[in-house]
Amino acid sequence: MHLVDPADPFSAVTHMAPYDYYRRLADGPPLRFDATLDCWLATGAAGVQAVLEHPACRVRPPGLAVPQNLAGTPCGAIFAELVRMNDGERHVVPKQVLARALGQVDLLRLQVQTSRMAGDRVPASAAQLNEAIFQLPLFAMADLLGFAPAQWPALAEWTRAFVACLSPLSNGEQLAGAQEAADALLQGFGHLLREGDARPGSLLASIVTETDAMGNGLLANLVGLLSQTCDATAGLLGNAIVALRTQPELLAQLRATPERWPAMLREVSQCDPSVHNTRRYTAQDVEFDGVRVPAGQMIVVVLASAGQAALGFGHGRHVCPGQSIAHAIATACLQAWSDGLEGMPLAWRYLPSLNARIPVFTQGENA
Ligand code: HEM
Repeated sequence: MHLVDPADPFSAVTHMAPYDYYRRLADGPPLRFDATLDCWLATGAAGVQAVLEHPACRVRPPGLAVPQNLAGTPCGAIFAELVRMNDGERHVVPKQVLARALGQVDLLRLQVQTSRMAGDRVPASAAQLNEAIFQLPLFAMADLLGFAPAQWPALAEWTRAFVACLSPLSNGEQLAGAQEAADALLQGFGHLLREGDARPGSLLASIVTETDAMGNGLLANLVGLLSQTCDATAGLLGNAIVALRTQPELLAQLRATPERWPAMLREVSQCDPSVHNTRRYTAQDVEFDGVRVPAGQMIVVVLASAGQAALGFGHGRHVCPGQSIAHAIATACLQAWSDGLEGMPLAWRYLPSLNARIPVFTQGENA
């Protein structure tokens, strides 16, 4: 089957076979202006790293900390505090607290717990699989944070509804749902904190011991842990399932050498990653290798074009602190599900998105 090449880095994200296109982007200049998209593209390992390392390349446009459509809303209140969405002094310490707390998570224990959860919820159809790739990572994070199992389904629903506010593709109804979900999530975490039942040793307990350091951003950044987990880890799981389908010898190899599961997941993160691009905005004129980008410009940082450099978890000041956690969760789920999925006829395409590659499965075979 001949596929038409993606037209641009946004349509590449959900294209069936975008990686030749990404390789061609990487062969071009590391930084170029795209007149059709009216923005800059940073491509290849060199372009991606240079922009993500540059102090004047910020996660938000100058003077617009919160998107206009979210200003003054519950989603906007969360957005304003997220370390992911901010640069600058006020966020340095909260960022360290989160990274330290995530770094202390007992990954072996997380994997054992997640295996148990995933084993109790083996998807029996394509529809259940589509739910499960989102739910299980969120259940695992909710458990890690100290929420009781009865609360996990609602938290997962609210998180999925909340992340709609982060996508430019969302419609009015989805944005309204995101606002309700934002309130519900803030209340959920507020309740957990007030009850003082942060389970000793839980991720929440280790963040709460540094409540002062987190300032006003505590609740928002706890919500952020769920929202950052949501699409990205669903994509990792889904893309790993696609890899098992397209490389039929893989499952037999993994059965013979189960210790290779983590390596398989790392390869998926590298060869078919779930986050394909991110954005930066120039706070002042910036020069890279003789190319001058004026202040106030948007740069689409095409992480998926970085090839072997494996920048799917970002780089520099905003690098993902959840990589090991995501891999532990995904390993546990795949190990628990791979036998059950083996005989299931699955076709897939991708959920509409400008940056996240998440398969949506249907019963059948891909054409
Ligand atoms: C396969 C799964 C995941 C992928 C591919 C992924 C990818 C990324 C990327 C690319 C960034 C940087 C974005 C940018 O610089 O513009 C990021 C940031 C972040 N991720 Fe992840 N992530 C994943 C899972 C997780 C999980 C499970 C957590 C939480 C436990 C998490 C927490 C965060 C946080 C808090 C940030 C913001 C860091 C900062 O701005 O300082 N991520 N992630």
